[in-house]
Amino acid sequence: MSVSDNLDAVELTGIRRFFEAASRFPDAINLGIGEPDLDPPSELIEAAARHMREGRNKYGPIAGVRELREELASRRSTASSSIGPENVFVTVGGENALFASMASVLRRDDEVVVISPAFPSYAAITRIFGARPVFLRTGQERGFVPSEAELRSLVTRRTRAFVVNSPSNPTGAVYGREEMGAVVRVAEEAGAYVISDEVYEPFVYDGEFFSAANLIDDYPRIIVVQSFSKSLSITGWRLGYMIAPADLTERIQKFLLYSHACPPTFVQHAVLDVLRSGVYAEYVRRARELYRKRRDLVVELMREEGLELSVPKGAFYAFPRLPGKADDERFCVRLLEEKRVVAVPGSSYGPGGEGHIRVSFAASEEKLVEGIRRIGQMLRELGQT
Ligand SMILES: Cc1ncc(COP(=O)(O)O)c(C=O)c1O
Repeated sequence: MSVSDNLDAVELTGIRRFFEAASRFPDAINLGIGEPDLDPPSELIEAAARHMREGRNKYGPIAGVRELREELASRRSTASSSIGPENVFVTVGGENALFASMASVLRRDDEVVVISPAFPSYAAITRIFGARPVFLRTGQERGFVPSEAELRSLVTRRTRAFVVNSPSNPTGAVYGREEMGAVVRVAEEAGAYVISDEVYEPFVYDGEFFSAANLIDDYPRIIVVQSFSKSLSITGWRLGYMIAPADLTERIQKFLLYSHACPPTFVQHAVLDVLRSGVYAEYVRRARELYRKRRDLVVELMREEGLELSVPKGAFYAFPRLPGKADDERFCVRLLEEKRVVAVPGSSYGPGGEGHIRVSFAASEEKLVEGIRRIGQMLRELGQT
């Protein structure tokens, strides 16, 4: 199978299909979108304009401007892990970092363990490279976090990588030191990589964020995927990065060079400015507080409407289970057509997602109150509460 055959075999995600349907209802309350409803910091916009005016408009280094790589390495390095600029690769958003990670480690017919329900790109990119996703289905009962024994039970001689996402889209699960440690231990036994997608890092509401980067000194086969899309509300600017072991440098650089040459130059300089000035820290602190308030509101409203959910500890999604054996896709289509509310069917996120819906709380309180009220109405009309 060639890459183009593999591309024929992957689908545009269910989410995309659903949004196409939703675009027929422009007046609908959209709780389906996976991006912040906030504006980026004004200092960031001003810095980007200034860097463009000052001439930072040309190609830059393949793996990103040196000062940004240094800044990111120093922020990531802790007492327990030494990460240098040579381990940091600046990318065109998190998606590009996921692609570069898989491009640099996967071989045809390898297996990639995907902890599911999961962001659909993990399985799709795995398939594009001719490898096979093996889904580890998790459930609401245990907060969508797998046990070490479950992780171990899927290991075969073909296991090449584990993908973990904390805070998780769509479940809101957050892995602490113990849970992340279990993934890394099992990967180590299997000689496999851990690809840890941490793009929602700033948005943890209960407990502490724990990065897989902290375990790199114990086990080097860890790749961390990061992005500024969600943290700085710049999904359209396309800036992310990855942290990877030095022995993958050459492959990663080749991939980055031949896929897009370099990340956008003025954007890197602007993001570096807000990291250094403290604007980043203050912005994400405020965004976290806002999302936390909305999270609390959403949990309360959903429970009032009779929806069962595991409280999202991070990211900005609630992932309740529909009562009964409701079909999530049919429910979301009716919700859209009859109540003009967009929520994403849980089955778009793979095994374990069936019977759930994803509701984004990166939306105003007003929309959340009205949207969830209409979800409740729909459930009552279907006789499900
Ligand atoms: C879990 C997760 N990883 C990666 C991405 C991709 O982020 P980016 O927009 O930076 O490519 C997303 C975007 O929705 C996401 O939810």
